[in-house]
Amino acid sequence: MNKSFDVVVIGAGPGGYIAAIRAAQLGFSVACIEGWKNAKGDLALGGTCLNVGCIPSKALLQSSENVEQVEHKFADHGIQVSGVKVDLGKMQARKDGIVTKMTKGIEFLFRKNKVTWLKGFGKFVSGGDTYTIEVSAEDKAADAKELITAKHVIIATGSTARHLPGIAVDNVNICDNEGALAFTAVPKKLGVIGAGVIGLELGSVWRRLGAEVTILEALPTFLGACDDSISKEAWKVFTKEQGLDIKLGVKIGKVTQKKGSVSVEYTDDKGLAQKLECEKLIVSVGRVANSQGLAAETVGLKISERGLIEVDEHCRTNLPNVYAVGDVVRGPMLAHKAEDEGAAVAETIAGQKPHIDFNTIPWIIYTSPEIAWVGKTEQQCKAEGIAVKTGQFPFLANGRALGQGEPGGFVKIVADAATDRILGAHIVHAHASELIQELVTAMEFKAASEDIARIVHGHPTLSEAVREAALAVDKRTLNM
Ligand code: FAD
Ligand code: NAI
Repeated sequence: MNKSFDVVVIGAGPGGYIAAIRAAQLGFSVACIEGWKNAKGDLALGGTCLNVGCIPSKALLQSSENVEQVEHKFADHGIQVSGVKVDLGKMQARKDGIVTKMTKGIEFLFRKNKVTWLKGFGKFVSGGDTYTIEVSAEDKAADAKELITAKHVIIATGSTARHLPGIAVDNVNICDNEGALAFTAVPKKLGVIGAGVIGLELGSVWRRLGAEVTILEALPTFLGACDDSISKEAWKVFTKEQGLDIKLGVKIGKVTQKKGSVSVEYTDDKGLAQKLECEKLIVSVGRVANSQGLAAETVGLKISERGLIEVDEHCRTNLPNVYAVGDVVRGPMLAHKAEDEGAAVAETIAGQKPHIDFNTIPWIIYTSPEIAWVGKTEQQCKAEGIAVKTGQFPFLANGRALGQGEPGGFVKIVADAATDRILGAHIVHAHASELIQELVTAMEFKAASEDIARIVHGHPTLSEAVREAALAVDKRTLNM
């Protein structure tokens, strides 16, 4: 007889593994299907985020930032260091160790919460009152398969890197995120197609480690989703201070590979033919949803033209008792969004009424300085006809930032002109990722800038700049 479960989750990235754990906490019998194999060929939980995304990229960002600090910033503190050597093998091994610790951690959490891990890839066989799902058994013979039944199905199959036609990604010289996180030597010249989040984060890693980096971006604008003031500041720091060569408004042409080098033909923003020769090329032009391979047609699961599984605001698909969360559905492709949707769906199945405020999902780019924002930009508000007032405060006037040797950047708060309610917050600073959370909480509680301005902030802390930006909304900063 087929094994049967109350809840079957397909995919064990942040959306899927959190959904599985939350459903098990709520008393359901739960299985999670996952067939990801890592570079060593071992089956691993955690999806893109833990294996080839958030976690390994942040490990390398930190290691490379440490190199940057030693080489360029320690001298300001009166610390002379000579003969700095980077052992890239050890740096990569550290990163791999963190990934293993985290993915094994999910195995432990599954055991603790009695979630059954079905090792393979799942696809629908039939629907009705219960769903039958076939699991390819990745750890058994190639044709071994298992059929299971589920009362509720949560699809969390995530996304994979989008590739460009005519550019063959081999993850050796022409790489997407997977190869770009695993270089065994620092390339002398690195080309990147796409000045989005991955291009900037991974471009930064390899620049700090010594690569000469050129980023080719199709759009004529830089970081268009950010508040204009933030993108301007980031452009200045990345290009003028750090030497990232970012070319906007390009059109990529032929890409060819000769032994040990990649040649990218493109036209620049003036329409002139150009060529970039590099050792390695990263293609980071967005991601596509993994909605293929589920045999969606056998049960009539609706998929949009863009390949996203169609869901409503509660992540319900068009099929009864079938939900989808994370990168495979609409909304930002972010791990925390996937996690919150996963937990919310498990609670919905249990009859609870969870709610996610999509307007307060923070975005963070982990470059140096970091860029973080939540809610609307000033320009979005203007375009939507919302009258706003804004307050800005630079870290240059914050004692802690000076002490830490990180005086660059600022906090900007956008508030409704009539009600003072915070509509958006934007930070560029070395520690923006941590600082933004106060403003996420404030927005979630529908706070006004006056609320932040009246809260006692510890001294000396970077968070005082957040308070000063709130005071600046009412033109009454105290330290500037
Ligand atoms: P995924 O993590 O993609 O997991 C989906 C899982 O489903 C995979 O393990 C896959 O093997 C499995 N699967 C697919 N099909 C099937 C099937 N048929 N049967 C069984 N299993 C299946 N986001 C952030 O918020 N912060 C960051 O710092 C960040 N950094 C990133 C850095 C990089 C380089 C990349 C590429 C992404 C980054 N992201 C970051 C995005 C983040 O990784 C994704 O938003 C997140 O992983 C989405 O989670 P998910 O569960 O929807 O999908
Ligand atoms: P992205 O959408 O952030 O950026 C892609 C960039 O490539 C865009 O600027 C786009 O205009 C450009 N582009 C597209 N086609 C092009 C072409 N033919 N030629 C030149 N440029 C082209 O996508 P990216 O960087 O691949 O990251 C994918 C997603 O992963 C992100 O959108 C984000 O959701 C997630 N992510 C999140 C991170 C974080 O939260 N810190 C870190 C890394 C990834």
